[in-house]
Amino acid sequence: MSDEIVEQVRAKYAAAATGSLSGDHAGVRAIAEAFGYSPDELSAVPAEANLGLSCGNPTAFASLKPGETVVDLGCGGGLDVLLAAAKVGPTGRAIGIDRNTGMIRFEKKLPAPLMGSPVIVDGVWLQGDCGGVLHAYDVRNTLVDPPELWSVTLGGCIESTPTVWKGRIYVGTRAGSFFAIGDA
Ligand SMILES: C[S@@+](CC[C@H](N)C(=O)[O-])C[C@H]1O[C@@H](n2cnc3c(N)ncnc32)[C@H](O)[C@@H]1O
Repeated sequence: MSDEIVEQVRAKYAAAATGSLSGDHAGVRAIAEAFGYSPDELSAVPAEANLGLSCGNPTAFASLKPGETVVDLGCGGGLDVLLAAAKVGPTGRAIGIDRNTGMIRFEKKLPAPLMGSPVIVDGVWLQGDCGGVLHAYDVRNTLVDPPELWSVTLGGCIESTPTVWKGRIYVGTRAGSFFAIGDA
C-alpha cells in the first residue's frame, strides 16, 4: 500500500475521532445494529464510544470468559473494548489501544519554555522548565487539566530529564548544578 493511501486512511480515522458522530445518531446506531450489536449492548456503552466505525462485531464471536485478558488493537472510541470488559468482568482485563484517536486529553501551557523531557512516576508528571522551576503535576486523571501538586525553584535552565530513585528526585541544570530533592 502506498504511503499516500496509508496517510489518507489515518487522516480519516483521526477525523472520525475528533468529529461529532456518536451513538446518539440514528445512522451510527443503525450501522452498528447491521453488524449485529444489540440495542441493549449499544445502550450499555457511552454514546462517544461508538464513532460509526463498525466493520465487524468481535465480541459476538470471541467467546470471552470471565478472568480473560483482551487487547483491542484499533479500539477507536472503545465500543468493543467496553463490551469486552463487561464479559471478562472484574477478574479480567480489557485493554484498548489505538494509534490514532486524534484525541487531546489535556493541554498544559507552562510559564517558561521547556528544554527538558518530562517523566511520569506513579501518576505524577515531573517537568523542569527553562526558568529553573521543577513542577509536579497530578496526571492520574488525564481528562482534566492536571493540577499542580508542588513546584520548587532551582534556578538555571533545567534541561535534564528528572530521575526518581528511592524517594528522591535527581535533576541537573544547564548551569552545571545537580540537585537531589527529597523529604529528608
Ligand atoms: C475500523 S476502526 C474500528 C474501531 C472500533 N473497533 C469500532 O468498532 O468502533 C479501526 C481503528 O483501528 C485504528 N488503527 C489502525 N491501524 C492501527 C495500528 N497499526 N495500531 C493501532 N490502531 C490502529 C484506527 O485508528 C481506527 O480507530
